[in-house]
This record gives sequence, structure tokens and C-alpha cells, in this order.
Amino acid sequence: MAEKEIKFSYHTFNFGELPIADAELLQAAKDVLQNAYAPYSGFKVGAAVLLENGHVLTGTNQENAAFPVGLCAEGTALSVASSLFPQTGIKKIAISVKSSTHTVQHPVAPCGVCRQRLLEYETRFNNSIEIILMGETGDVLVIKSVKDILPFYFSKSEL
Ligand code: THU
Repeated sequence: MAEKEIKFSYHTFNFGELPIADAELLQAAKDVLQNAYAPYSGFKVGAAVLLENGHVLTGTNQENAAFPVGLCAEGTALSVASSLFPQTGIKKIAISVKSSTHTVQHPVAPCGVCRQRLLEYETRFNNSIEIILMGETGDVLVIKSVKDILPFYFSKSEL
């Protein structure tokens, strides 16, 4: 028997302490929130991806009366990026949220499916994707790699 341990570190910032490029990416995620189509949950999510070529592309959650058909913001943004720039890796993704029922005062992490979606682009382009998270208020959380928040991930190396 062997006990093993996985550790990872992450950083927290006040919005004002963020490097300017990260603050701009996060602001892009916050700005695009208004385009979310979330009439069923009232929970709007905005995502902004920074590509290796410097382009910033955004996405929002798009819900559906048939609930499971709805799309997460991260998946929307990744699909836009990969459709427009299929040869270009993703450096960072900023994600922000807004609820119609309460003020979200903490960063909200991507769902499991979106972690797997993000991992695909990390492994596809062989680079870490930094994840920058913020609620409506409160601290910003910065995670260096998708693999940090998806231990024991499944990837193309298994196929
Ligand atoms: N949502 C996202 O857009 N990203 C996530 O990582 C988690 C959840 C959306 C899906 C749905 O429209 C709403 O948030 C509530 O679950």
C-alpha cells in the first residue's frame, strides 16, 4: 500500500493588483456577461480567452428550454476560438459570473465538463492554460493549469 498526495498552489489577487493584461481579459469576461442567454437559471457566465496570437475571443452561456441542451460559456468561447484560429493555442481564460438572485462574492470555477473541454486545448497545443476567476465582487483566483483542477484527467494519450 502506498499513500500518495497531489498538491497544487494558486494565487489570489485584488482586482487592482492584477497585471494589466489579466485585468483586461477579466473585464472582457465581465463585459460579455450581458450577452448570456440564461432565462432559466438566471446565472450568467462570461468567458474571455487570450490566444497565443494576442486575439481575445469571448463566449457566454446559452440555455435552452430542454435544459441539457444548454451550453456553458467556457465551451462557447473555446469553440469560437478553435473555429476562427484552429492552429493557435490558448494562453489564458478569464471567467466571471452574475446571478439574478444574489451577489456572487467569490470566484466560481468551471464545471467538470468545461475542465475536460479546457484540458483538450491544453493537450492539443501542449501549453498550460491559465484560468482567471472572479465573481461579481471579491477576490480574483488565478490557477496556472487546467491539470491542477482536473487530477487524474483523461486525455488523448490514453487512446
Ligand atoms: N455554466 C457555465 O456557463 N459554465 C460553468 O462552468 C458552469 C455553469 C452555466 C450553465 C447554465 O447556463 C448556468 O451556468 C447555470 O448552471
